[in-house]
Amino acid sequence: MGFREEIERLKKEKDAFIIAHYYQREEIQEVADFIGDSLELSRRCKEIPNKIIVFCGVYFMAEIAKVLAPEKKVLIPYRNAGCILADMATPDEVLELKRKHPEAKVVAYVNTYAEVKAVSDVICTSANAGEVIEKVDAHEVIFLPDGNLAAYHGKRSGKRVIPWAGYCPVHNRITWDTIERVKKRHPDALVIVHPECPPETTERADFVGSTSQLVRFVAESSHGKFIVGTEKGTLYMMRKAAPDKTLLLPDPEPLCDQMKMITPERLLRCLKEEVYEVEVPEEVAEGARRAIEAMFRL
Ligand code: 13P
Ligand code: SF4
Repeated sequence: MGFREEIERLKKEKDAFIIAHYYQREEIQEVADFIGDSLELSRRCKEIPNKIIVFCGVYFMAEIAKVLAPEKKVLIPYRNAGCILADMATPDEVLELKRKHPEAKVVAYVNTYAEVKAVSDVICTSANAGEVIEKVDAHEVIFLPDGNLAAYHGKRSGKRVIPWAGYCPVHNRITWDTIERVKKRHPDALVIVHPECPPETTERADFVGSTSQLVRFVAESSHGKFIVGTEKGTLYMMRKAAPDKTLLLPDPEPLCDQMKMITPERLLRCLKEEVYEVEVPEEVAEGARRAIEAMFRL
Protein backbone atom coordinates (compact mmCIF):
# COMPACT_ATOMS: atom_id res chain seq x y z
CA MET A 1 0.00 0.00 0.00
CA GLY A 2 1.35 3.46 -0.91
CA PHE A 3 1.78 6.33 1.56
CA ARG A 4 -1.46 8.08 0.56
CA GLU A 5 -3.61 4.95 0.79
CA GLU A 6 -2.08 4.02 4.13
CA ILE A 7 -2.78 7.49 5.54
CA GLU A 8 -6.38 7.41 4.27
CA ARG A 9 -6.92 3.99 5.85
CA LEU A 10 -5.47 5.12 9.19
CA LYS A 11 -7.49 8.37 9.15
CA LYS A 12 -10.70 6.35 8.90
CA GLU A 13 -9.65 3.72 11.41
CA LYS A 14 -8.61 6.29 14.02
CA ASP A 15 -11.22 8.96 13.22
CA ALA A 16 -8.41 11.45 12.69
CA PHE A 17 -8.32 14.82 10.91
CA ILE A 18 -5.02 16.10 9.49
CA ILE A 19 -4.45 19.82 9.61
CA ALA A 20 -1.32 21.35 8.02
CA HIS A 21 0.44 24.67 7.60
CA TYR A 22 1.53 25.91 4.15
CA TYR A 23 5.21 25.42 5.04
CA GLN A 24 4.79 21.64 5.27
CA ARG A 25 6.38 19.29 2.74
CA GLU A 26 4.29 18.69 -0.38
CA GLU A 27 3.70 15.01 0.53
CA ILE A 28 2.18 16.16 3.82
CA GLN A 29 0.01 18.88 2.27
CA GLU A 30 -1.26 16.30 -0.23
CA VAL A 31 -2.80 14.15 2.52
CA ALA A 32 -4.01 17.01 4.75
CA ASP A 33 -7.74 17.62 5.26
CA PHE A 34 -7.19 21.34 5.76
CA ILE A 35 -4.32 23.71 4.98
CA GLY A 36 -4.17 27.32 6.10
CA ASP A 37 -2.34 30.21 7.73
CA SER A 38 -2.10 30.42 11.53
CA LEU A 39 -5.39 32.31 11.86
CA GLU A 40 -7.36 29.89 9.70
CA LEU A 41 -5.79 26.88 11.41
CA SER A 42 -6.78 28.11 14.86
CA ARG A 43 -10.33 28.88 13.69
CA ARG A 44 -10.65 25.43 12.08
CA CYS A 45 -9.43 23.59 15.21
CA LYS A 46 -12.60 24.61 17.04
CA GLU A 47 -14.83 22.99 14.42
CA ILE A 48 -13.21 19.59 13.85
CA PRO A 49 -15.68 16.79 14.71
CA ASN A 50 -13.12 13.93 14.68
CA LYS A 51 -11.71 12.27 17.79
CA ILE A 52 -8.06 12.93 16.90
CA ILE A 53 -6.45 16.07 15.43
CA VAL A 54 -3.05 15.48 13.84
CA PHE A 55 -1.25 18.80 13.60
CA CYS A 56 1.39 19.00 10.88
CA GLY A 57 3.17 22.19 11.82
CA VAL A 58 5.41 23.45 14.61
CA TYR A 59 4.72 22.85 18.28
CA PHE A 60 3.11 26.18 19.21
CA MET A 61 0.49 25.57 16.49
CA ALA A 62 -0.38 22.13 17.88
CA GLU A 63 -0.65 23.72 21.32
CA ILE A 64 -3.31 26.11 20.00
CA ALA A 65 -5.34 23.15 18.75
CA LYS A 66 -5.21 21.59 22.23
CA VAL A 67 -6.08 24.91 23.91
CA LEU A 68 -9.11 25.46 21.64
CA ALA A 69 -10.25 21.84 21.52
CA PRO A 70 -9.24 20.45 24.95
CA GLU A 71 -11.57 17.44 24.65
CA LYS A 72 -9.71 16.16 21.56
CA LYS A 73 -6.61 14.05 21.37
CA VAL A 74 -4.10 16.35 19.62
CA LEU A 75 -1.03 14.73 18.07
CA ILE A 76 2.08 16.20 16.46
CA PRO A 77 4.18 13.81 14.33
CA TYR A 78 7.45 15.17 15.77
CA ARG A 79 7.57 16.78 19.20
CA ASN A 80 10.80 18.71 18.51
CA ALA A 81 9.42 20.63 15.53
CA GLY A 82 9.75 24.01 17.24
CA CYS A 83 9.66 27.61 16.09
CA ILE A 84 12.83 29.62 16.65
CA LEU A 85 10.82 32.85 16.81
CA ALA A 86 8.51 31.42 19.50
CA ASP A 87 11.61 30.45 21.52
CA MET A 88 12.51 34.14 21.74
CA ALA A 89 9.94 35.08 24.41
CA THR A 90 9.43 33.69 27.91
CA PRO A 91 6.58 34.49 30.35
CA ASP A 92 9.04 36.02 32.89
CA GLU A 93 10.38 38.46 30.33
CA VAL A 94 6.84 39.48 29.35
CA LEU A 95 5.87 40.08 32.98
CA GLU A 96 9.00 42.18 33.53
CA LEU A 97 8.27 44.38 30.52
CA LYS A 98 4.64 44.71 31.64
CA ARG A 99 5.87 46.03 35.00
CA LYS A 100 7.93 48.68 33.18
CA HIS A 101 4.93 49.73 31.05
CA PRO A 102 1.88 49.32 33.29
CA GLU A 103 -0.40 51.25 30.90
CA ALA A 104 0.46 49.08 27.90
CA LYS A 105 -1.51 46.09 26.62
CA VAL A 106 0.45 43.03 25.50
CA VAL A 107 -0.28 41.86 21.96
CA ALA A 108 1.41 38.48 21.44
CA TYR A 109 1.98 37.15 17.98
CA VAL A 110 0.57 33.66 17.53
CA ASN A 111 4.17 32.37 17.23
CA THR A 112 4.53 32.10 21.02
CA TYR A 113 4.10 29.20 23.45
CA ALA A 114 0.89 28.84 25.48
CA GLU A 115 2.66 30.06 28.66
CA VAL A 116 3.48 33.36 26.94
CA LYS A 117 -0.04 33.67 25.53
CA ALA A 118 -1.40 33.14 29.04
CA VAL A 119 0.34 36.33 30.32
CA SER A 120 -0.68 38.40 27.26
CA ASP A 121 -3.84 40.45 26.71
CA VAL A 122 -4.60 39.42 23.17
CA ILE A 123 -3.12 37.30 20.38
CA CYS A 124 -2.70 38.29 16.75
CA THR A 125 -1.50 36.57 13.60
CA SER A 126 0.22 37.90 10.50
CA ALA A 127 -3.25 38.16 8.90
CA ASN A 128 -4.71 40.54 11.49
CA ALA A 129 -1.80 42.12 13.45
CA GLY A 130 -2.52 45.67 12.21
CA GLU A 131 -6.21 45.38 13.06
CA VAL A 132 -5.54 43.98 16.54
CA ILE A 133 -3.03 46.75 17.36
CA GLU A 134 -5.58 49.37 16.21
CA LYS A 135 -8.50 47.86 18.10
CA VAL A 136 -6.84 46.90 21.39
CA ASP A 137 -7.98 49.18 24.18
CA ALA A 138 -4.66 51.04 24.89
CA HIS A 139 -2.46 53.72 23.31
CA GLU A 140 0.69 51.83 24.22
CA VAL A 141 1.18 48.29 22.94
CA ILE A 142 3.91 45.79 23.82
CA PHE A 143 4.20 43.68 20.68
CA LEU A 144 6.11 40.41 20.85
CA PRO A 145 8.16 38.52 19.85
CA ASP A 146 8.67 39.61 16.20
CA GLY A 147 10.47 42.96 15.88
CA ASN A 148 9.97 43.15 12.10
CA LEU A 149 6.21 42.73 12.39
CA ALA A 150 6.16 45.32 15.20
CA ALA A 151 8.10 47.78 13.00
CA TYR A 152 5.80 47.22 10.01
CA HIS A 153 2.53 47.69 11.90
CA GLY A 154 3.92 50.19 14.43
CA LYS A 155 4.67 52.59 11.60
CA ARG A 156 1.15 52.23 10.19
CA SER A 157 -0.77 52.51 13.47
CA GLY A 158 -1.46 55.61 15.52
CA LYS A 159 -0.16 53.80 18.63
CA ARG A 160 3.13 53.63 20.46
CA VAL A 161 4.36 50.12 19.77
CA ILE A 162 7.05 48.81 22.12
CA PRO A 163 8.92 46.16 20.14
CA TRP A 164 10.67 42.97 21.24
CA ALA A 165 14.06 41.88 19.93
CA GLY A 166 12.81 38.65 18.32
CA TYR A 167 12.85 37.59 14.69
CA CYS A 168 12.22 34.61 12.46
CA PRO A 169 15.62 33.54 11.07
CA VAL A 170 14.00 32.29 7.85
CA HIS A 171 12.20 35.55 7.03
CA ASN A 172 14.83 37.84 8.49
CA ARG A 173 17.22 36.51 5.84
CA ILE A 174 14.88 37.69 3.05
CA THR A 175 16.74 40.97 2.62
CA TRP A 176 16.14 43.22 -0.39
CA ASP A 177 19.40 41.86 -1.89
CA THR A 178 17.99 38.32 -2.01
CA ILE A 179 14.96 39.65 -3.91
CA GLU A 180 16.92 41.95 -6.18
CA ARG A 181 19.10 39.09 -7.41
CA VAL A 182 15.93 37.56 -8.92
CA LYS A 183 14.24 40.84 -9.82
CA LYS A 184 17.20 41.78 -12.02
CA ARG A 185 16.43 38.77 -14.22
CA HIS A 186 12.64 39.29 -13.94
CA PRO A 187 11.97 43.04 -13.69
CA ASP A 188 8.31 42.45 -14.57
CA ALA A 189 7.66 40.32 -11.44
CA LEU A 190 5.60 41.69 -8.55
CA VAL A 191 7.27 41.33 -5.13
CA ILE A 192 4.97 39.89 -2.46
CA VAL A 193 6.32 39.16 1.03
CA HIS A 194 5.44 38.00 4.54
CA PRO A 195 5.48 40.71 7.27
CA GLU A 196 8.17 38.79 9.21
CA CYS A 197 10.66 40.00 6.56
CA PRO A 198 12.94 42.92 7.53
CA PRO A 199 11.71 46.52 6.97
CA GLU A 200 14.06 47.04 3.98
CA THR A 201 11.99 44.33 2.23
CA THR A 202 8.44 45.01 3.49
CA GLU A 203 8.79 48.73 2.74
CA ARG A 204 9.73 48.07 -0.91
CA ALA A 205 7.41 45.14 -1.64
CA ASP A 206 4.30 45.47 -3.81
CA PHE A 207 2.21 43.49 -1.32
CA VAL A 208 2.70 42.31 2.29
CA GLY A 209 0.50 39.59 3.80
CA SER A 210 0.09 36.34 5.71
CA THR A 211 0.65 33.07 3.85
CA SER A 212 -3.07 32.75 2.95
CA GLN A 213 -3.23 36.38 1.91
CA LEU A 214 -0.22 35.83 -0.37
CA VAL A 215 -1.87 32.77 -1.95
CA ARG A 216 -5.12 34.70 -2.52
CA PHE A 217 -3.24 37.71 -3.89
CA VAL A 218 -1.54 35.58 -6.57
CA ALA A 219 -4.80 33.82 -7.50
CA GLU A 220 -6.78 37.06 -7.79
CA SER A 221 -4.14 39.31 -9.38
CA SER A 222 -4.20 40.04 -13.11
CA HIS A 223 -0.38 39.94 -12.98
CA GLY A 224 1.41 36.81 -14.24
CA LYS A 225 4.74 36.74 -12.40
CA PHE A 226 5.65 37.01 -8.71
CA ILE A 227 8.69 36.86 -6.43
CA VAL A 228 7.32 35.27 -3.27
CA GLY A 229 9.11 36.34 -0.07
CA THR A 230 8.13 33.58 2.32
CA GLU A 231 8.90 29.92 3.02
CA LYS A 232 9.14 27.76 -0.10
CA GLY A 233 6.31 25.37 0.93
CA THR A 234 3.72 28.10 0.22
CA LEU A 235 4.34 27.64 -3.51
CA TYR A 236 2.59 24.25 -3.46
CA MET A 237 -0.86 25.76 -2.78
CA MET A 238 -0.08 28.85 -4.84
CA ARG A 239 0.53 26.65 -7.88
CA LYS A 240 -2.77 24.88 -7.26
CA ALA A 241 -4.64 28.16 -6.84
CA ALA A 242 -2.98 29.78 -9.87
CA PRO A 243 -1.50 27.11 -12.17
CA ASP A 244 -0.82 29.53 -15.02
CA LYS A 245 1.31 32.00 -12.99
CA THR A 246 5.11 32.16 -12.77
CA LEU A 247 6.26 31.88 -9.16
CA LEU A 248 9.82 32.72 -8.18
CA LEU A 249 11.62 32.62 -4.84
CA PRO A 250 14.29 34.94 -3.41
CA ASP A 251 17.87 33.78 -3.82
CA PRO A 252 18.70 31.86 -1.61
CA GLU A 253 15.33 30.11 -1.24
CA PRO A 254 13.70 30.50 2.20
CA LEU A 255 13.32 27.14 3.99
CA CYS A 256 12.12 26.46 7.53
CA ASP A 257 13.93 23.33 8.73
CA GLN A 258 11.63 23.08 11.73
CA MET A 259 8.52 22.77 9.56
CA LYS A 260 10.26 20.17 7.41
CA MET A 261 10.81 17.93 10.45
CA ILE A 262 7.33 16.56 9.82
CA THR A 263 8.11 13.80 7.34
CA PRO A 264 5.81 11.17 5.76
CA GLU A 265 7.45 8.46 7.91
CA ARG A 266 6.83 10.45 11.10
CA LEU A 267 3.23 11.16 10.07
CA LEU A 268 2.60 7.44 9.50
CA ARG A 269 4.08 6.54 12.87
CA CYS A 270 2.06 9.31 14.50
CA LEU A 271 -1.21 7.86 13.22
CA LYS A 272 -0.28 4.24 13.90
CA GLU A 273 1.06 4.70 17.43
CA GLU A 274 -0.87 7.86 18.36
CA VAL A 275 2.30 9.83 19.20
CA TYR A 276 3.20 12.51 20.22
CA GLU A 277 0.29 13.71 22.29
CA VAL A 278 0.21 17.45 22.96
CA GLU A 279 -0.69 18.42 26.53
CA VAL A 280 -1.20 21.90 27.94
CA PRO A 281 -1.80 22.25 31.72
CA GLU A 282 -5.35 23.54 32.25
CA GLU A 283 -4.28 26.68 34.18
CA VAL A 284 -2.02 27.68 31.24
CA ALA A 285 -4.61 26.66 28.64
CA GLU A 286 -7.24 28.80 30.35
CA GLY A 287 -5.06 31.94 30.12
CA ALA A 288 -4.03 31.22 26.54
CA ARG A 289 -7.68 30.58 25.54
CA ARG A 290 -8.73 33.92 27.05
CA ALA A 291 -6.10 35.76 24.95
CA ILE A 292 -6.99 33.85 21.75
CA GLU A 293 -10.74 34.41 22.27
CA ALA A 294 -9.96 38.13 22.79
CA MET A 295 -8.47 38.13 19.28
CA PHE A 296 -11.58 36.45 17.82
CA ARG A 297 -13.78 39.08 19.53
CA LEU A 298 -11.69 41.98 18.16
P1 13P B 1 1.17 32.63 8.72
O1 13P B 1 0.24 32.88 9.87
O2 13P B 1 1.21 33.79 7.78
O3 13P B 1 0.84 31.36 8.06
O4 13P B 1 2.65 32.54 9.28
C1 13P B 1 3.08 31.57 10.17
C2 13P B 1 4.54 31.52 10.30
O5 13P B 1 5.10 30.73 11.00
C3 13P B 1 5.29 32.46 9.50
O6 13P B 1 6.63 32.19 9.59
FE1 SF4 C 1 8.91 29.89 13.11
FE2 SF4 C 1 10.09 31.21 11.14
FE3 SF4 C 1 9.66 28.61 10.85
FE4 SF4 C 1 7.60 30.35 10.81
S1 SF4 C 1 9.27 30.18 9.34
S2 SF4 C 1 7.70 28.42 11.95
S3 SF4 C 1 8.30 31.88 12.30
S4 SF4 C 1 11.01 29.60 12.39
